[in-house]
Amino acid sequence: MKKDLLDILDLSREDIDTLIRTAENIIADPDAYAEKCRRKKLATLFYEPSTRTRLSFESAMLELGGQVVGFSDAGSSSVAKGESVADTAKTVECFADIIAMRHFKEGAPRVAAQNVSIPVINAGDGGHNHPTQTLADLLTIRREKGRLDHLTVGCCGDLRFGRTVHSLLAAMGRYEGTSFVLISPEELTVPESVRTETLENNGCPYRETRSLEEAMPALDILYMTRVQKERFFNEADYVRLKDSYILTPDKLQNAKKDLAILHPLPRVNEISVAIDDDPRACYFKQVRNGKYIRMALILKLLGVD
Ligand code: NCD
Repeated sequence: MKKDLLDILDLSREDIDTLIRTAENIIADPDAYAEKCRRKKLATLFYEPSTRTRLSFESAMLELGGQVVGFSDAGSSSVAKGESVADTAKTVECFADIIAMRHFKEGAPRVAAQNVSIPVINAGDGGHNHPTQTLADLLTIRREKGRLDHLTVGCCGDLRFGRTVHSLLAAMGRYEGTSFVLISPEELTVPESVRTETLENNGCPYRETRSLEEAMPALDILYMTRVQKERFFNEADYVRLKDSYILTPDKLQNAKKDLAILHPLPRVNEISVAIDDDPRACYFKQVRNGKYIRMALILKLLGVD
């Protein structure tokens, strides 16, 4: 059966361990992987803006010796003429061996996956999920902290629309001793489905707070997020909420010395650039890790690992 990655829970903890191990091997010896995807093609179908996710997928495939086709602006493809996701996917299947799709509609990558016999990777679907960002996050946490269990993880900002948070909660919630501190304005707390299906049904310890300062001392990981402007119905609500949390050096005074600060990026205003040189800032390492873990994922889904 072909494999897809549509939801982070499509991967077991063992699968994630294996991907992390492969990524570490690639980091240690990239030349050993330079021809693994020779004559294979990745199609990147991006219906929404992206810098890191698309470029890291494309770099990942190129560094594996493969090639890349696709679009970064659906308006320049037949989507502008009204083509369905299913038909676009069936077309692309004639040219490529694997698809990475980002779409503004929740579930669109699943529709693509159901219509083709090549692997489909969800590169972010609306405000729903973003499993490959979570893989980058997990590799970063593992490299920084040496483990994925027994960590207190603070997620701060737009927990309602932030798809990276939804996937991260699902993934980290499976490790023993994880506890979450959810830091957001009232209007941007996690969706009800995440609260019940991801947190409560799995008995995941979590608490909610409005105050980043209050949460800070307990945290091992601080996962900052951007307020997701594109998901708001009303500009005034976005303007009111966009600067709810701004991490500045003074806010780190009560933080652990070995805190790891993550952010999926892009950042708008949530982290002052003055933090970038703090050894606890991991967000640009996260970008680099994203390429390596996507290399590992492509190898796995193509069965050439
Ligand atoms: C995130 C996304 O697209 O969900 N970015 C990314 O893929 N690194 C986060 C965001 O856009 O805020």
